[in-house]
Amino acid sequence: MTNNGSEQSLIRLLQLAYSGELAAAFAYRGHWHSVSDVEERKRIAEIEAEELHHRKLVGEMLSSLNAGPDRNREVRAWIIGRFLGVFCHLGGWLAPMYGAGRLESSNILEYETAAEYARDCGREDLIDCLLTMAEVEWEHEKYFRSRVLMHPLGRRISLWPQPRPKETIREAFAAEPARDLVLAEVR
Ligand SMILES: [Fe+2]
Ligand SMILES: [Fe+2]
Repeated sequence: MTNNGSEQSLIRLLQLAYSGELAAAFAYRGHWHSVSDVEERKRIAEIEAEELHHRKLVGEMLSSLNAGPDRNREVRAWIIGRFLGVFCHLGGWLAPMYGAGRLESSNILEYETAAEYARDCGREDLIDCLLTMAEVEWEHEKYFRSRVLMHPLGRRISLWPQPRPKETIREAFAAEPARDLVLAEVR
């Protein structure tokens, strides 16, 4: 992929993440209000705050790339987030925990991929922050997986694939050569 192609891919992925964080924050706001356990309320509210922090960081990255949010994705995120926030009050205890865990596992991959695009287009300054966000999403996934496994039914249903150990996020990134370098070597 060319430098410009990687930058465009990075922008599109960050726009997706930016709106996704909004949907997640709305959903978690409904989620922590819907649970009665004090510790669960506290942890999910904390996760909501972390998603909003991610959104702020991703928004700054988009600005630094002379880009901004995708308006259509923002509208969709608002609707989906609000819907999920309400659903948490109606869908029982297990379904929101399961849905959150599944979503978080894809968020890890999203930030890992964004870090690769950032490297490919020469924006090394964004890499550490993107990998840190992947690690935070890893913790979110771990939390929701642990909740699902607390439930008798949750232990009997098949879960989404378990992410690799947290430390492998940076190890895998360091082990993967930049696509530009690979291309330069074969030329
Ligand atoms: Fe996030
Ligand atoms: Fe998350």
